[in-house]
Amino acid sequence: MGDLVVLAYSGGLDTSVAVKWLQEERGLDVVALTVDVGQQEDLEEARERALASGAVHAEVVDARDAFADGFIARAIKADARYENRYPLVSSLSRPLIAQHLVEVARRHGARAVAHGCTGKGNDQVRFEVSLAALAPELEVLAPVRDWGMDREATIEYGRARGVALTQSKENPYSIDQNLWGRAVECGEMEDPWAGPPSDVWAYTAGRAESLPDVVVIGFEAGVPTSLDGEQLPLAVLVDRLNHLAGSWQVGRIDMVENRRVGIKSREVYEAPAAVVLLEAHRQLEDLTLERELAHTKIELGLRWATLVYDGLWFSPLKRALDAFIDEASRPVTGEVRVRFAPNAFWVEGRRAPTSLYDFELATYAHEDRFRHADAAGFVRLFGLGVRTWALRQGPVRP
Ligand code: ARG
Repeated sequence: MGDLVVLAYSGGLDTSVAVKWLQEERGLDVVALTVDVGQQEDLEEARERALASGAVHAEVVDARDAFADGFIARAIKADARYENRYPLVSSLSRPLIAQHLVEVARRHGARAVAHGCTGKGNDQVRFEVSLAALAPELEVLAPVRDWGMDREATIEYGRARGVALTQSKENPYSIDQNLWGRAVECGEMEDPWAGPPSDVWAYTAGRAESLPDVVVIGFEAGVPTSLDGEQLPLAVLVDRLNHLAGSWQVGRIDMVENRRVGIKSREVYEAPAAVVLLEAHRQLEDLTLERELAHTKIELGLRWATLVYDGLWFSPLKRALDAFIDEASRPVTGEVRVRFAPNAFWVEGRRAPTSLYDFELATYAHEDRFRHADAAGFVRLFGLGVRTWALRQGPVRP
């Protein structure tokens, strides 16, 4: 046996051809690794396709719980949405896949690992920066970036060498999906003015026929733990909510996004559970976090999302931000009630033992305990700087 390379294998065209290419062009034996992060594809079939494409060994790792508990849970606690919109679907899975690549490479004594990303995307950055942090001694190969073949040439290269390709029904899209959502690019959507064709939807394609229109989500220290009072592992909870919210066609995001490599790209996402859980979580924070902490957490959450988007999951700043987020999340325990309607959802109720909402402070009724007399002095001092400025410089022109 020659030198080994462990390839992150999705089962698609590029990684199937990469098995052969790494053998022929680089003289390496390929171990194919497919990580189950809830992409809901037949991964045993993918494993067989890897072997049929020439891999010397192929394995599938079920990492759904690790993905939910170690990655999705952190994203929820951070309120993570890149550029205030994208819930980091693909960005979250890459560091986990990198961890497994390192584990399998060490177990097999492989010299190198490989991924199937192109040179234009964020995912190459996430894989390679994660791998640099976890195993700086490993060589990383990026066949799809190096081979310079377009789609037709790739298919031709594979066909000519008997690579097991999926039935080539013309799918013009580049899709990445996992438990936290689904990303769809390319095809007609490369024109940012063109609406997404109706066949791009999967997670939100269903119809809510006999599904409930209200759900109560329970959180403990910032992490969702129950639906309608039933305690659930996070992976199960997210999966159920994907079905429920997806059936109401909730969770579609259509945006132009700034990639790390400098390209603006049009991205269409479906993330039903993610958008609902992130909104519910923020609403529970609104109830339980003191104002200064809440505001700082919003700023740092955006920073966290950018870091993770940029591939810096394994980095000193990310670890330090996690420590802040863990501390801030301690009081975020309670329940949020969400209502659904076609293409819409909203939070209509929230409660928590640690709630900072004080009825006697908030009410305008006779129970009011707010010290009204304190307000006049407070407002006068708060505005004192502006008042002094206006007196010296003349009133500010509107
Ligand atoms: N733009 C998103 C990101 O960078 C999604 C990438 C999806 N990858 C894909 N092969 N379609 O996280």
